[in-house]
Amino acid sequence: MPDKLIIFDTTLRDGEQSPGASMTRDEKLRIARQLERLKVDVIEAGFAASSNGDFEAVQNIAHAIKDSIICSLSRANDRDIARAAEALKGAQRARIHTFIATSPLHMEKKLRMTPEQVLEQSRQSVRFARNLCDDIEFSPEDGYRSDMDFLCRVLETVIAEGATTINVPDTVGYAVPELYGNFIRTLRERIPNSDKAVWSVHCHNDLGMAVANSLAGVKIGGARQVECTINGLGERAGNCSLEEVVMAVKTRRDYFGLDVGIDTRHILAASRMVSQTTGFVVQPNKAVVGANAFAHASGIHQDGVLKARDTYEIMRAEDVGWSANKIVLGKLSGRNAFKQRLQELGVALESEADINTAFAKFKELADRKSDIFDEDILALVSDESVTHEHEQYSFVSLSQHSETGERPHASIVFTVAGKEVHGESDGNGPVDASLKAIESHVKSGAEMVLYSVNAISGSTESQGEVTVRLQNSGRVVNGVGADPDIIVASAKAYLSALNKLQSKADRVAAQG
Ligand code: KIV
Ligand code: ZN
Repeated sequence: MPDKLIIFDTTLRDGEQSPGASMTRDEKLRIARQLERLKVDVIEAGFAASSNGDFEAVQNIAHAIKDSIICSLSRANDRDIARAAEALKGAQRARIHTFIATSPLHMEKKLRMTPEQVLEQSRQSVRFARNLCDDIEFSPEDGYRSDMDFLCRVLETVIAEGATTINVPDTVGYAVPELYGNFIRTLRERIPNSDKAVWSVHCHNDLGMAVANSLAGVKIGGARQVECTINGLGERAGNCSLEEVVMAVKTRRDYFGLDVGIDTRHILAASRMVSQTTGFVVQPNKAVVGANAFAHASGIHQDGVLKARDTYEIMRAEDVGWSANKIVLGKLSGRNAFKQRLQELGVALESEADINTAFAKFKELADRKSDIFDEDILALVSDESVTHEHEQYSFVSLSQHSETGERPHASIVFTVAGKEVHGESDGNGPVDASLKAIESHVKSGAEMVLYSVNAISGSTESQGEVTVRLQNSGRVVNGVGADPDIIVASAKAYLSALNKLQSKADRVAAQG
C-alpha cells in the first residue's frame, strides 16, 4: 500500500512574505477557498501574532474552511502561541506551527541566545502549545545549516513534548538534493523517538532547487509532508512550487510510490488566482502552469502529439485544469449564470449588493468584449470597487490624447475617500501621462519599482492586466488593474497600489 504525501500550502504565510505580495483579508479568504477546492491537506493561513490583519485573516479562514487543517505560524514564545490558538478557535481542525532558529549563525547573531537557551525555549514552547492544541508542528529555522548533534537534541526534545510534525527548513535555499535528502534521513535515523512525528520538508528556491530538494527529502529522507506555495510564491527566489511537486509525485508514481490527495484539475485556477491577486506574473515557460507548458510550437512536436499524444506529453493538460480555460459567459448571460460562475470560481461576495455591483461591471465589460473568460471574471472581482477594500482611491474616468510627434496628455477623474478629484499631466507616453496625472493630485512621493502589462486571455481583444509595484518609506506594495484599455488598467493598478500603501499593515516578519 503506498502511503500518503501531505501537502502543506504556505502561500498565505511564507508566500505572502514576498515583498509586494501582501494580500487583503478577503483576498486571502478567496485563495483559501481555492486551496480547499484543491484538497490541500494543511493551509498555513498566516502568522496570527504578526499583525491584527493577519490575526483576522487566520480567524476568518479558520471559520470558513472545513476540509483542510488550518495552521497559524508562531514564534516560540507563549504570547505568539496563545495568539495563534486564539485565532484558530473556530477551526474544525487546527494546527499551531511554532519555530525558533537553531543554526549557530542565527542563534548568535539574530537571537543572541546560547544553544542551551534555544533548546529550553523550544521545550517550553512546544509544552505550552500542546496544552492548547493537539496538532503541533515545530520548525528549527535555518535547520539545514544547523549542527547535526544539536539539532538532534532539540528535535528529540520537542517530539517528547508532543510535537506531531517536525519540519526541517532550508531557510536560505542552500541545500542540494542528495545532501538535503541524507540530512533528513540522518535526523530520522539518529533521533530515538523520530517515528512519533511526521517529517516535513520546507525548501527555499535561492539556487533553483527547492522542488528537487523537497523531493529528495521525500525519497531519500522519508519525509511525508512537503511545504510549498502556489506558483512557488515566496521571498527572494520563492518557495517550493506546489504544482510542480504534486505533478512530479503523481506523474512519477512509479518512482515515488506515494499518493497525494490534491485534485489537480483546480491547479491552473489556483495559479491564476494567486498571480492575479499578487501581481506576480507566471513566466510562460513555468512547468505545469506557464502559458507554454503544454504548447507545442515545433512542427515535429505538433505532428508527434497529433499522432500519439504521449510522444511529447507526459501529463494531460486537462488534468491540471487547462481545459477549463473556455469561454464562460457573454453579453447575453444573465445575473444567475454570473452568480453561479462566481460560486464555481470560489468567489464569495459578501452581499447581494456586491453581486449587483460585480454584475454591472460584468455587463459593462461584456459590451466591450464579446467573450468573457474565467480570468476576466477573477480580475473583475478583484477590483476594489466590488470588494470595498481600501477604497481611499477609486477610478472614475480617464481621457488622454497622444499623436505621433506630440507629447501625450492625460486628464483623470478619481475619488479620494468618496470625493471626486481631477488630475492632469503630460508625460513620455499616455501611461506615463495618466499616472503623473494621478500623482499631480495625490503627491504620494512613492517610487515605482515595477510596471508590467499582460494580456489576460491572449488576443488583442483581451483585457490588459497591469501590475504596478510602488515603494514608499520601506514598504513595497503591488497594485493590479484590468481593463480592455491598458491605459485605464494602468491607472486602476496605480490607484490600487496607492490604496495598499495607505493601509497600515505593519507586521512582524517571520524571519529576520
Ligand atoms: O523558511 C523558514 O525557515 C520558515 C520557517 C518560519 C518555517 O519559513
Ligand atoms: Zn520559509
